[in-house]
Amino acid sequence: MVRQSSYELIIGNVIETLPKKALERRFNLIIADPPFGISFNKSSHEYGSIDYDLYEDNFTPESYFQFSKEWINVCYEALTDDGSLYIISGWTNLQFILNAIKTTDFHLLNHAIWHFSWGVYTKRRFTTSHYHILLLVKNRKKYTFFKQKHYDEDVFFWPEYNRGNDPHRIKGHPCQLPIVLLDKLIRTSSKPSDLIGDVFSGSGGTILAARIAGRDVVGFEIRKEYVSIIHHKARFGKSIEFMVNQSSLDDYL
Ligand SMILES: C[S@@+](CC[C@H](N)C(=O)[O-])C[C@H]1O[C@@H](n2cnc3c(N)ncnc32)[C@H](O)[C@@H]1O
Repeated sequence: MVRQSSYELIIGNVIETLPKKALERRFNLIIADPPFGISFNKSSHEYGSIDYDLYEDNFTPESYFQFSKEWINVCYEALTDDGSLYIISGWTNLQFILNAIKTTDFHLLNHAIWHFSWGVYTKRRFTTSHYHILLLVKNRKKYTFFKQKHYDEDVFFWPEYNRGNDPHRIKGHPCQLPIVLLDKLIRTSSKPSDLIGDVFSGSGGTILAARIAGRDVVGFEIRKEYVSIIHHKARFGKSIEFMVNQSSLDDYL
């Protein structure tokens, strides 16, 4: 059965906007790719990328911990009782995120690694080529989990995928997650009728992935400068041929 999924973008600070939106309907799954808190600049971040507009990313360790505590608690309240949260993070400020999680009632079920193949060349240390992906649930006895393969390991790697051949990467945003990754998280931890929250929308990749998977989705982004990028990438106003029963994006890309 094919159903039209609904989608929406809310501009503002997610710590304020998410609780209001959740009053209408709570979220079954939230995907969070928060600002890294590493004060990146164009020369240090994303080797070779020039066509984007940076967002505010200045935090002290203390303020990053406080910020993480606030938004993770807000996510907890906005989720259904059997809901799940994925947090995607680099390693630099991961300790603050892990400590912030400890201030909540979330259960940490997985600490997965996404290994990617475009790390920036370094001379005197190993090249960073991974992100951390944390799977948190509110109720460890009741949550959605559809394994995507028989032996679904906690290290994700798409050898055929790199930044250069991502068909959904567009100009304008510095850190875009691949749709293959978001697709996996959405199909593993939600059902077709579920509502997905994309709490740090960025370029809108999670909105697009949710639409392709036929899920309802609400994106939250603080910078209005990204509205047109999100509309473009997530194809606002255009119908999307989605694949409710498909486990891989291969036929779509
Ligand atoms: C790491 S990027 C997300 C990238 C996204 N996953 C993608 O694939 O395009 C983080 C985003 O969060 C936004 N942001 C930062 N603080 C926010 C807040 N308090 N509320 C909502 N969005 C925020 C930033 O402007 C930035 O676009």
